[in-house]
Amino acid sequence: MRKTVLLCLHGLLALTAALAQQPRRTPEQDSLMARMQRKTAADHRQMLNQLGIQSLRSGPSGNPSAPNAANRDEAKVPPYTLPDPLVLKNGKKVKSAKDWVATKRPELVEDFEREVYGRLPAVIPNVNWQVVSVKDTVVGNQPIKEKTLRGVVDNSAYPSISVNMELVLATPKTASGPVPVVMEFGFIRSPFGNYAPVQPIGLGSAGEPTWKEQLISRGWGYAILVPSSIQADNGAGLTEGIIGLCNKGQFRKPDDWGALRAWAWGASRAVDYFETDKNVDTKRIAIEGLSRYGKATAVAMAFEPRFSLAFIGSSGAGGAKILRRIFGEQVENLAGSGEYHWFCGNFLKYAGPLTPQDMPVDGHSLVALSAPRPVFISSGSPQVEGQWVDAKGMFLAGVHAGPVYKLFGKKDLGTSEFPRIGTPLIDGEIAFRQHAGGHSTGPNWSTWIAWACRYWGDCKYFE
Ligand code: GCU
Repeated sequence: MRKTVLLCLHGLLALTAALAQQPRRTPEQDSLMARMQRKTAADHRQMLNQLGIQSLRSGPSGNPSAPNAANRDEAKVPPYTLPDPLVLKNGKKVKSAKDWVATKRPELVEDFEREVYGRLPAVIPNVNWQVVSVKDTVVGNQPIKEKTLRGVVDNSAYPSISVNMELVLATPKTASGPVPVVMEFGFIRSPFGNYAPVQPIGLGSAGEPTWKEQLISRGWGYAILVPSSIQADNGAGLTEGIIGLCNKGQFRKPDDWGALRAWAWGASRAVDYFETDKNVDTKRIAIEGLSRYGKATAVAMAFEPRFSLAFIGSSGAGGAKILRRIFGEQVENLAGSGEYHWFCGNFLKYAGPLTPQDMPVDGHSLVALSAPRPVFISSGSPQVEGQWVDAKGMFLAGVHAGPVYKLFGKKDLGTSEFPRIGTPLIDGEIAFRQHAGGHSTGPNWSTWIAWACRYWGDCKYFE
């Protein structure tokens, strides 16, 4: 109890300190924010109207001391039944990897596209990648070549919306040929403007080399793709960005793509660019992200076969976590006006007339879509990160994707027992580790790299 109070206090102090570094919002910014919230609420409402839904159930609170706090007690998780990722809709069991690819995978893709993440539009304009700058610089004490790129989407069909994807690629200066690259969904500049020198998400904890240094010192490269340059992270933006451009500024239909699918689409376009860059080994590209970007990572990995590995950081609900589990964040939260834009409109039904038990898929089915390619599911410690992300729910998404990986002759997690904090379950193509830190991928980078080396080899400095 005392510890929880101290941790909350610590969190509060950190938040106050961060806010103190922010300039006060100007009246213009306030009114912009209010306009955005109104636009989001209107978009959310119109989608409910399209679906014929009057109202949605509201989700539990993320505040542990609120009366409607989300469940954090394992003993109170009601039983649930998951859809079997090896059984077809006609009831037949799939017996081989080849049949799974031919029959079950398309069923899962259709279910995810129609009910959860949305479909790609039939026509998406081309992206023209431009090199904005190339410079020699350093990360830590490692010399790198850093390229800043802009992915300009052809908007000739609807010129009032422009989409310019922001991407940075860094490779070791000393590399003599193409190198493996880990691409992060993240920030190139501080999301707080020039005011707060925030630790970008995914950095190692104090005293550890950053993820960038760790990759570069292995002889690998990294890239950062900025999701908000593809699609805004709010409902108001759904008539803009790549979704709005394809819809010519109109509202979405219930099975049109949401932001997660749009971000994942952008990641695929970045891979298109990498295929033209002689510094990148296109057989060894990984995707990584945290939290909502962890969800985007799981989606990108599922839909883009050119990603060879994934590092899915604290993705929580809507990512690699069992949604039927009543623990931490729930479908009702995701369907609210603050988060529904990540998904397609049809997803809202599961917080209205339907429940998560009615979903044809769950978090394990999403992980299964990546099979047989290796995925690493990462989380922090509940004591530090909190229970909202549901570390065990993420572990179970990995466990229940196991039979699909095994069908491919790959190794699953090797256990269905939730491991102690810090235990690396990294012997197989589904990996899991709960590090001792907070809401970050930072402390898991060295474990991820050790695991990735098994697939990518060429860890010059590692063996
Ligand atoms: C909220 C949200 C999560 C999300 C997280 C984040 O906590 O409920 O679903 O992952 O924000 O992206 O930071």
